[in-house]
Amino acid sequence: MQHERVLVLDFGGQYNQLIARRVRDLKVYCDLKPCDMTVEEIKTYDPIGIIFTGGPNSVNGEGAPRVPEELFALGIPVLGICYGAQLISRLLGGKVEHAETSEYGKREFTFVKDSPLSEGIPQTSVCWMSHTDRVSALPAGFEVLARTQSCPYTVFGEQNRKIYGVQFHPEVVHSEYGNRLLENFLYKVCGAHGDWTMKGFVEEQVQKIKARAGDKKVLCAMSGGVDSAVAATLVHRAVGKNLICVFVDHGLHRKNEPEEVMQTFRDGLGMNLVKADAAELFLSKLKGVSDPEQKRKIIGEEFIRVFEKEAKKIGAVDFLVQGTIYPDVIESGKGKSAVIKSHHNVGGLPDVVDFQDIIEPLRDLFKDEVRRVGTELGLADSIVWRQPCPGPALAIRIMGEVTKEKLETLRDADFIFRDEVAKAGLQREIWQYFAVVTDCKTVGVQGDFRTYENVIALRAVTSVDAMTADWARIPFDVLERVSTRITNEVKHANKIVYDITSKPPSTIEWE
Ligand code: XMP
Repeated sequence: MQHERVLVLDFGGQYNQLIARRVRDLKVYCDLKPCDMTVEEIKTYDPIGIIFTGGPNSVNGEGAPRVPEELFALGIPVLGICYGAQLISRLLGGKVEHAETSEYGKREFTFVKDSPLSEGIPQTSVCWMSHTDRVSALPAGFEVLARTQSCPYTVFGEQNRKIYGVQFHPEVVHSEYGNRLLENFLYKVCGAHGDWTMKGFVEEQVQKIKARAGDKKVLCAMSGGVDSAVAATLVHRAVGKNLICVFVDHGLHRKNEPEEVMQTFRDGLGMNLVKADAAELFLSKLKGVSDPEQKRKIIGEEFIRVFEKEAKKIGAVDFLVQGTIYPDVIESGKGKSAVIKSHHNVGGLPDVVDFQDIIEPLRDLFKDEVRRVGTELGLADSIVWRQPCPGPALAIRIMGEVTKEKLETLRDADFIFRDEVAKAGLQREIWQYFAVVTDCKTVGVQGDFRTYENVIALRAVTSVDAMTADWARIPFDVLERVSTRITNEVKHANKIVYDITSKPPSTIEWE
């Protein structure tokens, strides 16, 4: 079944993925594609509507990305956002000028004429602007629909041809009714029905995988992370015992993680799940190694070796499951080639496994959609809402050499931190939060005795994509409980510090 779909043409703005996510949240499937798609390609794609994103260029500048004018003759509704709105104006005969002052941040805007876009939105509300250029004259046939004090053409359109422009960013949360405006575009202008739901997605994928895999053998590397867990559960629903999952226990997981994976997937869901016990092996390979990149390399290579050994025992398989998600495959920006990133834990696996083809059931989904699919499949919140964990896991959260003793200290401290964050109800607001065993020792006094033990650092950040991050403002009383519990309950820890650096200049992990 072909879903109704919207095409989001990418002009390089920073919120482009967000636009695509908002559209999908409104139950309409969409793809983010480079803005240099040809009219033929657009016709073949057959969208019910097209959205032009914002972008860093000036439409008057040389080499500014454009779309072919024939696009407007296809009869497909168009919504241009920021740069996209200016482009509509420029291409159809209006004017765009460089404003003396840029307009950034919150602005009040007022609708001056009713249109399908304004349904259910108060006449005056707050929007979020980020622009320097602005439309200074509308193309013939267009009318102004809303304005701010300083921006005369905040929303404009040609209602017969269903072509609209908005100068602000409806996709960001600071635009009070932005989501409603997008919803209006999809449902009132494009006539969407809203057929993109996670329940429908699951049913469809299960059918597709069944049809493709039949009764053939499928192999999956289960890392315990959200993506591989959801991918495996989906494939399991389609092929049952023909799916064989391998979980490599490298001994570097967080407290109780391997047990939880085995309980959930083998005992709970009845999956054919093999655990490769390699903790001692990884520890021996890491002996004496303190350089972070060296640790990463050793763990990555060893992981593949262990997996290969297990795969050999299983023999040839027909399919390999990968937990690739949409942001990993997205092709965006004019002239840029596709950026394809493979999941750390399965990167390199295709080279060592004897298989015919790859199954990537999540390649159309954003992370939050993957979580919703997980919930739809009945997975527990502890799996579905698991925070991202780096491939090398705890090894890069222990400064210097990784030892059994330090691993135990880290696991226990990290467990307490996670427990208290969850008790405070902060776990979904914070992107990642974890403990680090530093290679610094300090003098303490515990029970009238002098101690000389490790400094434990706590790291918690907010982020949307891990590219930039800010330190999380965890309330002091929560931090106090964490500190008291770690120094009381965890061996070899006598000082707790909280990391208050953002990324950049720092990074999220300590190594
Ligand atoms: P940094 O520390 O670079 O981390 O700010 C950004 C995100 O990537 C994760 N990370 C890794 N993930 N293998 C991975 O699979 C790695 O070697 C690795 N190093 C960092 C980190 O946890 C954060 O989410």
